[in-house]
Formats: sequence, C-alpha cells, structure tokens
Amino acid sequence: MKMRAAVLEEFGQPLVVQEVELAEPKEGEVLVRLEACGVCHTDLYTASGADPSGYAPTVLGHEGAGIVEKVGRGVSLVREGDRVVTLFSPQCGECEHCISPRTNLCLAIREEQGKGHLPDGTTRLSRGGEDIRHFMGTSTFAEYTVMPEIALAKVPEEAPLDRCALFACGLSTGLGAAMFTAKVEAGSTCVVFGAGMVGLGAVAGARLQGAERIICVDMSEDRLELARGQGATDTWTGGPDVVERVLGETGGMGADYTFEATGIVAVMRQAVESARMGWGLCTIAGVAGKGETVDIVPRYLITGRRVCGSSFGGVKGRDQVPQLVQRYLDGDLDVDPFISHRIKLDDVNHGFELMHNQDGIRSVIDF
Ligand SMILES: NC(=O)c1ccc[n+]([C@@H]2O[C@H](COP(=O)([O-])OP(=O)(O)OC[C@H]3O[C@@H](n4cnc5c(N)ncnc54)[C@H](O)[C@@H]3O)[C@@H](O)[C@H]2O)c1
Ligand SMILES: [Zn+2]
Ligand SMILES: [Zn+2]
Repeated sequence: MKMRAAVLEEFGQPLVVQEVELAEPKEGEVLVRLEACGVCHTDLYTASGADPSGYAPTVLGHEGAGIVEKVGRGVSLVREGDRVVTLFSPQCGECEHCISPRTNLCLAIREEQGKGHLPDGTTRLSRGGEDIRHFMGTSTFAEYTVMPEIALAKVPEEAPLDRCALFACGLSTGLGAAMFTAKVEAGSTCVVFGAGMVGLGAVAGARLQGAERIICVDMSEDRLELARGQGATDTWTGGPDVVERVLGETGGMGADYTFEATGIVAVMRQAVESARMGWGLCTIAGVAGKGETVDIVPRYLITGRRVCGSSFGGVKGRDQVPQLVQRYLDGDLDVDPFISHRIKLDDVNHGFELMHNQDGIRSVIDF
C-alpha cells in the first residue's frame, strides 16, 4: 500500500513528508493505522545525527498509538480493531529476560531492530523499489506501520489514543522509573531532577507509590508548576547548590530515592550525591551525549548509595502499559497537561522546533 510518512533523508536536515510503500504484514506481524504519535527527544537525537547508531533513510517516530487494521499469519496476541500502543521495547514473554522479573529488556528481536529491520531481517518500508529502514522497530511518523505482535500493547477500548501515545515512551519511562525500577516505598523522600515528560512521569509515579515528599528540580518555572500538578511537594530551581540543599533538608542524610531525567551528566552526578547514605537509590533515565561519562566519587557507593539505569522505566510493555493506561482511566493520573500542542504529520519539523525550544511538554501528531 501507499501511505504518507516523515522520512529522515539526511542527518541534520528537516524530515521530508512524502509517499512511501508499506508491504503487507508477514507472519507474526501486524498492520497498525496510527491515530496519534508524540514527538520525543530520541527522534530529534537521531535526526540531528548525534546518535552514533543512527541511519538514513528511515521513517522516524516511536511514541505511537493506533488501531489494528490487519494481522499476519499466526498472530494471536492482537486482532483487527484492537487499540494498541507501539512498543520500541517489546515483550516476547519467552526469552531469558522476559521470564525474569528483574528486567524489561527483551532479547527476542534486539539485533534486527537495531539494524532497522523487522525480526526476519527485512523491511516493509520502501520507495521506488528501494528499502527504507524502520526506526526503533516502530516508525510511527506515518499513517500506518507494520510491527511484530510482541511489540504492541493492547489498551482498553475507552482509552483516548492521543493520551495513550504518551505511554509509548516518555510517560511510561518516568512512571516506570519510580514504580518498577526504583519501586519507591510509601512514606519515602524522592528528588526528581528534570521536569520534562520523563521527570514529570517520575513525579507522578512517586506519588502513586505513596512517597511522602517529592522534590522536583528544573530550570523552568512553568515546568515546576506542572510538577506541582503531578504531586511534587517541593519545587526548586536547579543549580550547583542542589545537593547541599537536599542534604540540608534531610538531616544531612540525602533522599531515599533520586531520579535523573535531564540527560546532563553533571546532573546525574548531583542525583547520585543527593541519594541517602546507607540505602539511597539513584535511578538514571536521561540519555547522555556520545562519549560522555558520569563522575562518581567511590566513597558515595561504599557508604551505601546505589545507582541504576532505567530503560523505558523497566516497564514490561505488553503487561504493564495497559495497567498504566488503566490508572489513567481510573483517574489516578492527569495526562492532559502533557499534551501541549496538537500538530499534523506535515508539521513534524515544527514539532521538533517546539521541542528544541522547550515549548510545552509534548507535541502530539494527530493523523
Ligand atoms: N531511559 C529511557 O528509556 C528514556 C526514554 C525517553 C527519554 N529518555 C531521556 O530522558 C531525558 C529526559 O527526557 P524529557 O523528554 O523529559 O526531556 P526534556 O528535555 O523535556 O526535560 C529535561 C528537563 O531537564 C531540565 N534541566 C536542565 N538542566 C537542569 C538542571 N541543572 N537541573 C535540573 N533540571 C534541569 C530542563 O529544564 C528540562 O525541563 C532525555 O535525556 C531523554 O533522552 C530516556
Ligand atoms: Zn522516546
Ligand atoms: Zn523477550
């Protein structure tokens, strides 16, 4: 079939919205008609050429939600008409990692996905007979996508798909960092560095876990206002004095849980140093620049602080994205304030500009 898609032709250049070919879903694959897709930093990161594993041409986009239009042979996990969230982090349910409760990093299709292929090593996207590679296994800056069934989370019928799209990456990453990676305990003190989509999700996740004190740190007063709306009890402007301030407000000890959602390595260090002696856990979600490293004085670790990273918030997508969406439907999560702009596919480059200028939290493409 022919469809419109936003193609990354050349790094550092605007995406080109154009007609491309999408082949039928093969065995284990599903054709999804996109209804909504958020514009996330990783799309811009790849488009800019900064991502060392990036490639072109490719159809970007990974924060998608839509409706199953057609299923390939042997598909049993979803059926036509199902409403789904796309998962760049799939859940096969069978690999060593999927059967362990300790990680969400499914091993089933990692290698081919990283190369821009579907699991069988080929692509469904093309143009004039020439292959176009998939991006993050999703390629959702397009009217349709073909994806493996293990990379689709079926969400309740009553869930609005524009809101659901945010659960495909940023929001679930933040929520999950607090709920599944750190497993914040009730009554604890948390510090969240960064109040973008990921940090705000972590604030909401910490609240859902029953944290008593949630300090959110950011440079933007508008974003700190949003953090208060998600349950932050304290909001501070970031800067070099934040660690001292955390210690000062916690009897010199530090916070039970800290979260880093900025992608800035100096802030990652602050998040480590703000964690409590004895048991403080620092969870890093931000993606740093190529070649950057985090400086940690070993004494911080020896004295009981722990550091961990979190990809997609540790969320096992097919099982847990629907549960998170259900919490939204139950009224436990206020998702609407995160949708700052609604744009059309043709305006995807404007979505990048808005993100670059930190104008709003998320632009959502409405197909
Ligand atoms: N681990 C994952 O699976 C995953 C998924 C999605 C995004 N990410 C990454 O998470 C990070 C956050 O994503 P986002 O969409 O929320 O980004 P964002 O750019 O919208 O938010 C980052 C925030 O950090 C704030 N900030 C800047 N300097 C600061 C400082 N010194 N102290 C405190 N805050 C400061 C900014 O004001 C901004 O609000 C990015 O690095 C992104 O690439 C990771
Ligand atoms: Zn993303
Ligand atoms: Zn797996």
